[in-house]
Amino acid sequence: MKLKQLEGLLGGLDQFSQPKVELEQYPTGAHIASRMIYTAENSYEDISGKIVADFGCGCGTLGIASALLGAEHVLGIDVDPESLEIAGENVTDLELDVDFLRCDIRTLNLKGLLVDTIVMNPPFGTRKKGADMDFLSLSLKVASRAVYSLHKTSTRELRFDVPQMYKFHKKKEVDIAVDLWRFVP
Ligand SMILES: C[S@@+](CC[C@H](N)C(=O)[O-])C[C@H]1O[C@@H](n2cnc3c(N)ncnc32)[C@H](O)[C@@H]1O
Repeated sequence: MKLKQLEGLLGGLDQFSQPKVELEQYPTGAHIASRMIYTAENSYEDISGKIVADFGCGCGTLGIASALLGAEHVLGIDVDPESLEIAGENVTDLELDVDFLRCDIRTLNLKGLLVDTIVMNPPFGTRKKGADMDFLSLSLKVASRAVYSLHKTSTRELRFDVPQMYKFHKKKEVDIAVDLWRFVP
């Protein structure tokens, strides 16, 4: 699948209808999500034919992108049932096969969990200090091949666009500078 086609399909996904700020629910936009997963596949062969998990999957964007690029199996995990419902509808609309698990990532039972690649846009830890590190340390225990993760940074590599979603947002849209990291466990 071409990058533009992937971006177009991700752009049509439904996202958080009532985002929960305490869970730092910000969707990864189609532009950045498509490039993230396309790079994982085309530069490192980490997606196609692999078992992929999307930690903090929200409405499923990164996991769905992985399924579209030929992942053998995709598991999306999130603590929020409403997001998982939307994720399930997105998967059905695209006729994909993705499993979802409702679970707080900090209590995930690692026994028997076999995952090649983890893709995630974790909470940045602005609401719950250390939330990003919880996701990261767990991912590095689970993935056997690679972990792709977006993290807030002061260096401007990619722009994560945040539309006006919460009452305390004064501007229509802001860009947050993020880095895309590839960790090898
Ligand atoms: C920044 S959003 C990213 C959503 C989605 N991955 C995306 O890329 O659009 C972070 C997600 O992590 C979930 N989350 C936050 N804390 C969590 C936890 N402790 N366990 C599982 N999921 C959590 C939120 O519900 C939210 O969907």
